[in-house]
Amino acid sequence: MNIVSPLTRERAKYRPKLPRVFEERGMYVAVKPGASTKPYADADEIKALFPQTLGAPVVTFQPSSTTKLRKVNVGVILSGGQAPGGHNVIAGLFDGLKAADKGNKLYGFLGGPSGVVDGKYKELTSAIVDEFRNTGGFDIIGSGRTKIESIEQFEKTRATLDALDIGALVIVGGDDSNTNAALLAEYFREKKVAIQVIGVPKTIDGDLKNDHIGTSFGFDTAVKTYSELIGNICRDANSAKKYWHFIKLMGRSASHITLEAALQTHPNVVIISEEILARNFTLRDIADTIARIVDTRAAQGKNFGVVLVPEGLVEFVPEIRSLISDLNDVLAKEEEAIKALPTLDAQAGLVQSKLGTAAATVFGSLPASIQKQLLMDRDPHGNVQVSLIETEKLLVELVAAVLKERKAEGTFKGTFSTQRHFFGYEGRCAAPSNFDADYCYSLGYIAAALVQAGLTGYMASVKNLAAPAKKWVAGGVPLTAMMNMERRHGKSKPVIRKALVDLEGTPFKELAKYRDAWALGEQYVNAGPIQYFGPPSVCDTTTITLVLEQKKTRKRS
Ligand code: FBP
Repeated sequence: MNIVSPLTRERAKYRPKLPRVFEERGMYVAVKPGASTKPYADADEIKALFPQTLGAPVVTFQPSSTTKLRKVNVGVILSGGQAPGGHNVIAGLFDGLKAADKGNKLYGFLGGPSGVVDGKYKELTSAIVDEFRNTGGFDIIGSGRTKIESIEQFEKTRATLDALDIGALVIVGGDDSNTNAALLAEYFREKKVAIQVIGVPKTIDGDLKNDHIGTSFGFDTAVKTYSELIGNICRDANSAKKYWHFIKLMGRSASHITLEAALQTHPNVVIISEEILARNFTLRDIADTIARIVDTRAAQGKNFGVVLVPEGLVEFVPEIRSLISDLNDVLAKEEEAIKALPTLDAQAGLVQSKLGTAAATVFGSLPASIQKQLLMDRDPHGNVQVSLIETEKLLVELVAAVLKERKAEGTFKGTFSTQRHFFGYEGRCAAPSNFDADYCYSLGYIAAALVQAGLTGYMASVKNLAAPAKKWVAGGVPLTAMMNMERRHGKSKPVIRKALVDLEGTPFKELAKYRDAWALGEQYVNAGPIQYFGPPSVCDTTTITLVLEQKKTRKRS
């Protein structure tokens, strides 16, 4: 049986584009240092924690015919949630290493960061890499969420890398994994270990971005995949005219995915978590807002519509946010007693009895299924696993309750039949769009060039991403330049700052400009499936978010 689809076979031939300097000169490039950098915030505290790596300059690449290419083996880790394009990061890294010296070896650590700690790896040969070019998924070496943060883990990592004669480790991850990459780079420098650490910005959530990083890879493809599905649902809603569709979209904290999907598809209601927090909305306020739109549309004879809900919403509703914080304390203090209870009902009862009055009231007001979901294990970074919380179901129940009241008062005369969806895992392993295929390959190639340049504690970066690839500017940013201090598990820790939706930013303002019209009309847009072959206007465009954000940057500079 042929297990490769015709599309995959054709797509394997795609040659990703690189920034011009690499297209023209391969690895014969040199770094050009810019100004030295400061942390995003909390400079004094970060300086004390990163004396070795703080203050390094941003670098870009320029052609050089005097570059001495060196022999260096490299290890790579895919960390955290899958994001389309990870295989192309590895392909770009592999090609960059081989362009520098054919004898260079690339080792992939298996199952995420634990692979390097436990010494589980495989050498990535050209036969293996070729099989995965331009494909989605992280299955070439697998991924995982283990954190490398203790001295013991650092030492085990060093032992694994030494045993394989690896001179540089490339960590492909989000804000948490790259924070750990910065800590590892600092540790190796301090201990005079000659192993470089380079980060690559990954996450479909789109929240690893700042003045230096335009977007994280995977966001483009994932959100286009969801937008295709949302567009289809909008059309179904408008055809059948009988359902309200509540669609939860991935994105653990930030609502970038929801915002971008809304800009691409024009649904009737869009909830943005950051706005909910800024406006101090309660769950009841959110339900009232949606119910008002359902009611108004019903009065026009339209008992259908589409609502987009970011998966991180519950953590942004102030009352639930403080409940989660209290729950975390109770879960930590009462871990043994809770685990000893046989049922989730009994556990929920015990937890409720240990909460303060306000938190206990909020907890008691939630449906039992949501209570249980809030009690589930946190991920290794201490995050609530928001993908497992059925926020879309919660909202449907709350809106239905408000509409029932309105019906009793005689104001709501329509019907409210609902369908619920959750789009998250559907997009994380999609075949990368041209944008992500090019961007990821470039990031991998840049990581190889940063290794050649002998740098450590840097993240590979590409600027000017909304322009065609030949105008992209390749470079590297010190990981410490993106850091600030945040409270984590009750302690102040250095972390790479997560970018939430900026309510003053152009993408949110664009939504705010149009959402009232979208609420009452049917201005749905069907973006269609990602296209890999065809006119550049269809195949090579990136997200509306990136285009709007970079327009602003161009105006500023
Ligand atoms: P990363 O931040 O590691 O890229 O993962 C993001 C994400 O896809 C979130 O959108 C989602 O909440 C989470 O991963 C789901 O995690 P898991 O794969 O462990 O269920």
